[in-house]
Amino acid sequence: MSVVGKVYIVGAGPGDPDLLTVKALKVLREADVVLYDRLVGDKIEKMIREICKEIVYVGKDSCENGSIRQRVINELMVKLAREGKTVVRLKGGDPFVFGRGGEEVEYLIKNKIPFEIIPGLSSITAVPTSANIPLTHKGKSSTIFVMTGRKLDDIGKSALEGTIVILMGKEKIREIMKRFIDLGKDPKTPVAVIENGTLDNQKVYFGNLKNIAEIVERNVKGVALIVIGDVVELGRKFNETRRDESL
Ligand SMILES: C[S@@+](CC[C@H](N)C(=O)[O-])C[C@H]1O[C@@H](n2cnc3c(N)ncnc32)[C@H](O)[C@@H]1O
Repeated sequence: MSVVGKVYIVGAGPGDPDLLTVKALKVLREADVVLYDRLVGDKIEKMIREICKEIVYVGKDSCENGSIRQRVINELMVKLAREGKTVVRLKGGDPFVFGRGGEEVEYLIKNKIPFEIIPGLSSITAVPTSANIPLTHKGKSSTIFVMTGRKLDDIGKSALEGTIVILMGKEKIREIMKRFIDLGKDPKTPVAVIENGTLDNQKVYFGNLKNIAEIVERNVKGVALIVIGDVVELGRKFNETRRDESL
């Protein structure tokens, strides 16, 4: 009887290899094959190239349909596991945050493949923190609303208080900011956009609901996350203080 291997669905964190978990690193070293995509970032790709037995890029081409690519990934995981291999499916951030990790697990269960999920540091918290922006702060914000910029209907009245974190919002930033203003949020509400968070080329752009779209459209080329709310002012202060050499 053939022995079935195991699939680890692993979060790679926001891009800095030093932010991988110890557990992720352990399974990466032990795996027979690692399936990864573009979202893990260049630095982690370089690292797995050096430490892993075999790595396979499974990201989609720009013109490829996401669902077709997902089916290819699902089938590949099952095929490799049925060959008795230990497989790591490495995903950017946390595998269960806007990353189709749940769909992959459903497919593994359907095909009776043993699996384990290893959490990763999500960009939701890691990127603002690495940009010195606290998501909650006494007297400023005690709630966090997280959304993707691809589903603007998610912005209801409940999203108007506290801190708002938006993933995948760069392309539609103008539309998103307008939507918040139309719903009654003050156009001067502070906004930060963090590009390439946690990486050496991390950049933080500060503005408000009214002017941030123009700043982003002019400057931001890399992967980016948006933070809206009063905590952004605190982040700006922390950044300025950090630059002060006397501290
Ligand atoms: C498909 S989602 C995947 C999220 C991931 N699973 C996580 O937990 O962070 C990709 C989005 O996450 C955000 N993101 C991920 N890594 C980032 C980084 N290093 N800097 C800024 N934004 C990042 C961006 O908004 C990007 O469009």
